[in-house]
Amino acid sequence: MSSASAPGKIILFGEHAVVYSRPALAVPVLQVHADAAADLTTDDEADKRIRTDLGEKDWRSRIFIEAPDIGLFSTLDALLSDQTPHPLAAVIINVFQFLGITTPPAIRIRVTSSIPVASGLGSGAAVSVALIRALASAVQRPLSDDQVNVLAYEIEKLHHGTPSGIDNSVVTYAMPVYFVRGQPIETLRVGAPFTLVIGYTGVSAPTKESVGDVRKLWEADKPRWEKVFDQVGEIAQGARAAIETGNTSALGPLMDANHALLQALTVSSVELDQLVLAAKAVGAEGAKLSGGGRGGNMIALVASEKAEAVATALRSAGARSTITTTIQ
Ligand code: PMV
Repeated sequence: MSSASAPGKIILFGEHAVVYSRPALAVPVLQVHADAAADLTTDDEADKRIRTDLGEKDWRSRIFIEAPDIGLFSTLDALLSDQTPHPLAAVIINVFQFLGITTPPAIRIRVTSSIPVASGLGSGAAVSVALIRALASAVQRPLSDDQVNVLAYEIEKLHHGTPSGIDNSVVTYAMPVYFVRGQPIETLRVGAPFTLVIGYTGVSAPTKESVGDVRKLWEADKPRWEKVFDQVGEIAQGARAAIETGNTSALGPLMDANHALLQALTVSSVELDQLVLAAKAVGAEGAKLSGGGRGGNMIALVASEKAEAVATALRSAGARSTITTTIQ
């Protein structure tokens, strides 16, 4: 049995502008777990028979995937019968293609997750990364983090269209990251721990759409939005310095400023703004939406003794769920 885990993520600063090559910061949260048990005992004779009698289609019917959190129990070939391949099926196909394995052994895969699906916590990227690792080690061809990251980015493209790559990067390396599209990933040193309360709006909003809408704005008036992206980039730079030097009191105002720019980019929503205000009203030092926006999550920076009060205020203001996490 081969097992692998990967965390989800939360973006702290710089979402959307990161698509336009400005820096962004993100940190890991929660865990996804994948097990893959491969039957590697097929003898040569049986293997030959499978290849000649049953053809290429057969190996796909010998791979079974179980993902109880999303009610999925299926063979790979059934997942491939739809016009758009299921992302889990795409992961499996891509891994074997990458490894140059044309007839994989029978494999039983189980994926379990404590990350709520489609809630902006990077559950898609986390599942991809855990599954890529579990599969590769099940066929005894473990991959490096850099290789896992490349494969996970391909799957992100299926989910998001034109992803910056920040999700798969923070999930693969499982470290706080400073990310600039197309540049080598830099890990972020956390000078002093700080506490965040994550509030989930309960609204699932496809990142692809908000990213597409920002692109339309940008295309209609590039000079204006380039300036906004520059401002977001400066905030992310400032936040990096504050995090690395342990100057966490500087982070709250930077979050507020980043949220205002995201509002200007039209990616906030009534629900997100309500949660941001509710957190601030009970003493959060700063708050902003996190990720694609229009729904999904917001984050609030809190002194640890205020975390419970902020979480309660968020739930009263309509948050479906809250997670308190300390970044260190
Ligand atoms: O919705 P999330 O949490 O996957 O974050 C998307 C972040 C964006 O910057 C909006 C898009 C991207 O690809 O970086």
